[in-house]
Formats: sequence, structure tokens, C-alpha cells
Amino acid sequence: MKHLMYILVTLIFSPFILLQAQNGHSFIGAEACGMCHKTEKQGSQLSIWQNSAHSKAYETLKTDKANQIAAEKGFKTPAVETAECLKCHVSGYGMDASMLGKKFKIEDGVQCETCHGPGSDYKDMKVMKDKDLAVKNGLVMHDNLEKFCIGCHNVESPTFVDMNIDEAWQKIKHSIPKTQN
Ligand code: HEC
Ligand code: HEC
Ligand code: HEC
Ligand code: HEC
Repeated sequence: MKHLMYILVTLIFSPFILLQAQNGHSFIGAEACGMCHKTEKQGSQLSIWQNSAHSKAYETLKTDKANQIAAEKGFKTPAVETAECLKCHVSGYGMDASMLGKKFKIEDGVQCETCHGPGSDYKDMKVMKDKDLAVKNGLVMHDNLEKFCIGCHNVESPTFVDMNIDEAWQKIKHSIPKTQN
């Protein structure tokens, strides 16, 4: 039953990966977001992400284990060159080079913009400080973690682990600390 739910949810939500680069916004890369999102006062988003599995998702595809999985699934290419693996393991996969900024690195795996949308048009301070304006310019927020995370954490993953989403979120959460005014 649970598996059926995952399959249904996957069918409904997997297109989000393809929606990432609509409306002409382009990817600037995690380091560019990190220029502002790295201080403790801001919430240390950069280092939290660097220390998470998501930042290593591309590196993982270079391992023997990954190549073995790809071969077992019948792919002729190494995992790191296989579309069916890259689509969940990196940001900006399959995008035209013109959609990828100078600092963008595919090696950074599942990045800020995989989850928050390509940032070229919301990255400026005056836009970022106005949430509605940021959203109009491509910022994506998620109020339903269960549905969002399952976009990749589902049975289509060859190594699928049925994780508890709330516990998983605790491992990667990167909130802006509340200020005491
Ligand atoms: C020039 C500095 C700067 C850059 C670059 C920047 N941000 Fe921000 N961002 C901010 C500031 C400042 C806020 C906080 C606004 C506030 O506290 O209300 C913010 C808020 C956010 C929020 C929370 C929005 C909300 O109001 O809930 C998200 C998500 C976010 N940024 C993601 C990103 C991502 C992803 C990138 C890279 C594509 C990025 N930011 C690049 C300065 C920046
Ligand atoms: C674009 C696809 C994608 C999305 C969306 C995604 N993840 Fe992941 N996640 C991955 C991949 C790929 C890995 C494995 C990375 C590795 O080990 O190299 C992973 C690994 C993790 C891990 C580490 C698991 C472990 O066993 O150590 C946690 C925790 C996690 N994700 C939490 C989340 C949460 C919470 C969300 C939703 C807010 C989420 N992920 C959304 C692709 C995604
Ligand atoms: C639907 C999204 C998705 C696809 C497609 C996908 N992965 Fe992953 N991968 C994940 C997620 C999420 C994780 C972390 C937790 C898990 O295994 O479910 C992960 C983890 C991994 C890991 C680390 C697991 C471990 O236990 O060490 C390897 C290796 C891996 N994937 C290889 C591959 C290969 C090779 C392909 C292509 C044949 C692939 N993945 C396709 C989402 C995906
Ligand atoms: C695996 C997906 C994922 C990745 C990768 C990710 N985020 Fe987030 N982020 C979320 C989710 C989910 C939330 C909380 C729910 C929401 O969107 O409001 C969030 C919240 C935030 C917030 C708002 C916190 C608050 O308290 O309002 C900021 C700022 C932020 N992320 C910035 C970043 C930056 C910068 C990076 C990269 C260094 C990054 N995120 C990487 C999924 C992700």
C-alpha cells in the first residue's frame, strides 16, 4: 500500500524536476547563494548544505557501487554519464549551457536551486528581502515537505530507503534564526 502511494506520488510530482528552468531563470550555483547565506546570523545554510549528502550526490555517481547499479539496470554508460541517474543527483541537468551561470558547477550535486528554483532573477538583495517579489522572480518554497521530498526520495531510486521525512528534514534543515525584536 505504502509503495503504491509512492508510485502515485512519483507520477504526479516527478515533473517538478523538469519545471526547474522554466520562465527563463538560470542557475547561479550554490556558492553564489552562499555568499549571503553563510553567516550564523543568516542561518549557515551554505555549510549545512556542504555537510549534507545532497552536496555529494554527484560524487556518489562516480563510485564503483553506482557504476555497478547502473550496469545492473542495463545502462551502457558510467552512472555519472547516465541521464536516468543524473536527473535526481544534480541541479540543472539537461539544461542548455546558456542557463548555467559562470559559478555553476554540476559537481555540486543536489544544490540550493534544485529545491528553491534557479536564482538568477531573485538573487539580488532588494528582491530577496521581499519574499513575494522573490517568488515572482522564481524563488520556490515548499509548505508540504512530504510531497516535495518524495519527488526524488521514492521507489524510482535504485537504493530507495523509506525514510521518515520529518527526521530527514531535521538532518538538513537550515532555517533563518528568529531575531528577538
Ligand atoms: C545578495 C545576498 C543574497 C543572495 C546572493 C541570495 N540570498 Fe537568499 N536571502 C537573502 C536575504 C537577506 C534573505 C532574508 C530575507 C529576510 O530575512 O526576510 C534571503 C532569503 C532567502 C530565502 C527565504 C525566503 C523567505 O522569506 O522565506 C530563501 C529560500 C533563499 N533566500 C534562498 C536563496 C537561494 C537559493 C539563493 C541562490 C540562488 C539565494 N537565496 C541568494 C540574501 C541573499
Ligand atoms: C532532486 C532530488 C532530491 C530532492 C528533491 C531531495 N533529495 Fe534528499 N537526496 C537526494 C539524493 C540523490 C541523495 C543521496 C545523495 C548521496 O548519498 O550521494 C539524498 C540524500 C538525502 C539524505 C541523506 C540520506 C542518508 O541516508 O544519509 C537526507 C537526510 C535527505 N536526502 C533529505 C531530504 C529531504 C528532507 C528532502 C526534502 C526537503 C530531500 N532530501 C529532497 C535527492 C533529493
Ligand atoms: C528518483 C530519483 C533517483 C534516481 C532516478 C536515482 N537516484 Fe540514486 N539516490 C536517490 C536518493 C533519494 C538517494 C538517497 C536515499 C535512497 O537511496 O533512496 C540515492 C542514493 C544513491 C546512492 C547511495 C546509496 C548508498 O547506499 O550508498 C547511489 C550509489 C545511487 N543513488 C546511485 C544511483 C544510480 C547509479 C542511479 C541511476 C541508475 C540512480 N542512483 C538514480 C535518488 C535517485
Ligand atoms: C533538498 C532541498 C533543499 C536544498 C538542497 C536547500 N534547501 Fe533551503 N529549504 C528547503 C526547504 C524544504 C525549506 C523549508 C520549507 C520552505 O521552503 O519554506 C528551505 C528553507 C530555506 C530558507 C528559509 C528558512 C527560513 O527560516 O525561512 C533559506 C534561507 C534557504 N532554504 C536557503 C537555502 C540555501 C542558500 C541553500 C543552499 C546552500 C538551500 N536552501 C538548499 C529545501 C532545500
